[in-house]
Amino acid sequence: MFRAANRPLVLAHFAMTADGKTSTRAFTPALFTSPADKRRLQEVRSGVDAVMAGRGTVATDSMTMGISRGDLRRDRAARGLPPVPLRVIVSNAGHLDPGWKVFRYSGSPLIVFSTRRMPANIRAGVARKAELFLFPGRAVDLRKSLEILRAEFGVRRLVCEGGGTLLRSLAALDLVDGLRLTIAPVIFGGRLAPTLTGLPGGFLDPPREFEIVRHSVVAGECFLELRKRGASRRRFAPSPHKFDQPAGFWENRKTPSKARAWHP
Ligand SMILES: NC(=O)c1ccc[n+]([C@@H]2O[C@H](COP(=O)([O-])OP(=O)(O)OC[C@H]3O[C@@H](n4cnc5c(N)ncnc54)[C@H](OP(=O)(O)O)[C@@H]3O)[C@@H](O)[C@H]2O)c1
Repeated sequence: MFRAANRPLVLAHFAMTADGKTSTRAFTPALFTSPADKRRLQEVRSGVDAVMAGRGTVATDSMTMGISRGDLRRDRAARGLPPVPLRVIVSNAGHLDPGWKVFRYSGSPLIVFSTRRMPANIRAGVARKAELFLFPGRAVDLRKSLEILRAEFGVRRLVCEGGGTLLRSLAALDLVDGLRLTIAPVIFGGRLAPTLTGLPGGFLDPPREFEIVRHSVVAGECFLELRKRGASRRRFAPSPHKFDQPAGFWENRKTPSKARAWHP
């Protein structure tokens, strides 16, 4: 059940082949879509308060998770929003490299949700560049992470940009409210190339049901917007809103605090 006060609305944005693959069997970056799709990625980002990705995608795609288009940054600023959404990385094992591009980009604060398994030397490097939340046990509590984003950072809309492993975890917890999918006119085949929910594995039980609410064909690709079946339409309205936090909040967050342990 979606309760607006507790967590952000969660969208997932992916590109896939016509046979449902989101990458190659070598887990290389998704290069099978058009420049129009890459532009849309930036547009979808510019419509949310936070962008989330798993460690695998951040590393493979060498992401900044930022917004490179000046017009989109200016448009956000004119709406009273930070020019670039908050960026969020999720990793259970915590083997992140503070030298990655995402840590060098300074357009918006970065938050890392991981566990106490993160090696001490990596913790120190990451905590210098990001706000770090370390959960006890072996796995990040995704639901709690979303609640923290809502309560502490004012995040109302979030887009998960992959990969399949992270999306599957979110779907398993019934935390995906909407999908934005680009279907490219190509097929890859093969069992070892991941789909929207990663490599073939266990069934989602129950299956998560969506309805298609919009579709368009641009540059020979089909773009679909799906909404979780039964979700209220009002929640999806892209309401231009001022950011929830007091003035200066965002800038202050650019100087990260030390790692925080989160205790259940
Ligand atoms: N076509 C597209 O739109 C699209 C989008 C995104 C990615 N991709 C492609 O997908 C491939 C990467 O797929 P992937 O499934 O490996 O990506 P991923 O989900 O980004 O990365 C997997 C890793 O992220 C962390 N993670 C995932 N779920 C987690 C959870 N519930 N809690 C804590 N940590 C979690 C774990 O990191 P640790 O191992 O550090 O614990 C996990 O090993 C790449 O080839 C990329 O290019 C394609």
